[in-house]
Amino acid sequence: LLRHSNVRVTYLAAATTTGTLNSIHPEFLDQTKLSCEKFKIQKAQKICDALFVAVPHTQAMNIVPELIKADKRVIDLSADYRFPKASEYKKYYGHEHTDKANLSKAVYGLPEIYREEIKHAQLIANPGCYPTSAILGLLPLTSTFSENIQQIIIDAKSGVTGAGKKLTNHLMFSEVNENLKAYKVLSHQHKPEIENQINKMAGHMIPLAFVPHLVPMNQGILSTMYLFVKKPLSLAHIHKIYKNFYKTEPSVRILPLGQQPETKNVFETHYCDIGLAIKDHLIVVTSAIDNLMKGAASQAVQNMNIMYGFQENLGID
Ligand SMILES: NC(=O)c1ccc[n+]([C@@H]2O[C@H](COP(=O)([O-])OP(=O)(O)OC[C@H]3O[C@@H](n4cnc5c(N)ncnc54)[C@H](OP(=O)(O)O)[C@@H]3O)[C@@H](O)[C@H]2O)c1
Repeated sequence: LLRHSNVRVTYLAAATTTGTLNSIHPEFLDQTKLSCEKFKIQKAQKICDALFVAVPHTQAMNIVPELIKADKRVIDLSADYRFPKASEYKKYYGHEHTDKANLSKAVYGLPEIYREEIKHAQLIANPGCYPTSAILGLLPLTSTFSENIQQIIIDAKSGVTGAGKKLTNHLMFSEVNENLKAYKVLSHQHKPEIENQINKMAGHMIPLAFVPHLVPMNQGILSTMYLFVKKPLSLAHIHKIYKNFYKTEPSVRILPLGQQPETKNVFETHYCDIGLAIKDHLIVVTSAIDNLMKGAASQAVQNMNIMYGFQENLGID
């Protein structure tokens, strides 16, 4: 945002972290005089037009209603507004939703599906990181050839920043380094978020399994998606479908045939890279994003750009 020509950052806040931005994140040395303060809703209401709420789920729904009431535009990065129904939130996140009134206002902030709705939205539910990589990888086939798809298996791998900065034993260096493991197998809370969008675009339910893994790197998600189809298609045909589907998208790159995405090629960028392979009744789609960028921050800025009619990749390219 500091590099964004149409944005002035007026307020930075957290729960307990305070001080100059340089002292918290020394990489910002000499780039800004901004300081981080203890969050005060009245101040946010007074000095901001738009707000990025990047706090843990259950915290966002305490903050967002007051901002909406004050006519602010809000991009929420948590899961609090990603499900249209409070009952789904309760089921998958285990908490009662305390801001049901604003659930229907929230637009799911995946520009590749909801660009028109995002333009006029007051509240954006920025998608989860795994869902962004999975949905973008699946969308061209599930929204045009859904009847042909029998089953989808998503095998996804994420770097450790996906879990945020909280200190927990299983995220310590010695636990994560030189290690690779699956977690929340078939029960991760991002699965219903992926399903909601895929099934909505397909118009019916497609059986889907999701297994996330934690890998010893800081940033990046690689999702390998196995689609079992009734009728085989040629690789050239599928490649053409993907190229056409995303031909005007600034953040999605369909790789040339024979090339596969790598997390290092999207590191610190707003891109989602997608690769394709096929053998008989099996299509394999791989997608790579940076979980902190297209999986969170750059997607949030992309949404803001769309909301305000700015060039979509301003500040993130
Ligand atoms: N990390 C990812 O890859 C990723 C991707 C997509 C979406 N998300 C979502 O985005 C949100 C932020 O993620 P993160 O990884 O940045 O989390 P994080 O590292 O845990 O940071 C959360 C921040 O929120 C602040 N905070 C907590 N409660 C607050 C409150 N009541 N008022 C004001 N500030 C408060 C914390 O302040 P202190 O510094 O004082 O503790 C901290 O700075 C989460 O909902 C997460 O699920 C994360």
